[in-house]
Amino acid sequence: MPTLLDKIDATRVPAHVAIIMDGNGRWAKERSMERSAGHVEGVNTVRLITEAASEAGVKYLTLYAFSTENWNRPQTEVDALMHLIVIAIERETPDLIKNNVRLDMIGDFSRMPAEALGRLRQCMADTAHCTGLTLVLALSYSARWEITEAVRQIALKAKNGELEPEDIDDAAVSSHLSTAGMPDPDLLIRTGGDKRVSNFLLWQIAYSEIYVTPTYWPDFDKEQFYGAIIEYQSRERRFGLTSEQLTK
Ligand code: IPE
Ligand code: IPE
Ligand code: MG
Repeated sequence: MPTLLDKIDATRVPAHVAIIMDGNGRWAKERSMERSAGHVEGVNTVRLITEAASEAGVKYLTLYAFSTENWNRPQTEVDALMHLIVIAIERETPDLIKNNVRLDMIGDFSRMPAEALGRLRQCMADTAHCTGLTLVLALSYSARWEITEAVRQIALKAKNGELEPEDIDDAAVSSHLSTAGMPDPDLLIRTGGDKRVSNFLLWQIAYSEIYVTPTYWPDFDKEQFYGAIIEYQSRERRFGLTSEQLTK
């Protein structure tokens, strides 16, 4: 079967793809189902897109799974999502290892329920040796929380004389974020059609290419993911320069 994977230029694959996985609730509502049924279906898409990212040669895939603001959803939905994380991690860990995928997590660990956090930590330990794709789950994450934490750490170091205010530059700030050591996302995908960032990776997406698709997350598939990479490869990333400067 022909696949868009063959049309991807292997020399210019985005090193880091970040995805705002949106539209689970609307997907379920259109089918007169509970919102949580949309989240269950969304887990299958996570598996597919993790495979697709590995196959395309992406090094980092960051998935926005639960935001700081999502804690304010109805308790039944929050509970269902946290339970789903426990089940999904337990079920998927063997395949992550088989596919050489390392799991990482960014977000406020302290707010995560103990069982979910325990499973996540176990999976991170079990996949720590994997050298292929790094799958980063953003859980209880918001960029404002992350930046505030970084500012707090930097202020503490300055207060203790470990860091001079003159030495605080881009790199110093980046190294205090939860994504320290990762390249910034080259491509940011949002499913579900809304053209907003919803408190995701605000610092890191400064020069990311943005791709919004109306497709709800449960309907997003490998071919659409490859299509987003192909569209990304057609863009000219100028980073503030002129087109002429880039071709010199
Ligand atoms: C995204 O789907 C998943 C999470 C935020 C956990 P939504 O649940 O936001 O689905 P919509 O946007 O209401 O359709
Ligand atoms: C963004 O989706 C957060 C996640 C995908 C986890 P939301 O559904 O929470 O965002 P808004 O409310 O549409 O901005
Ligand atoms: Mg949503």
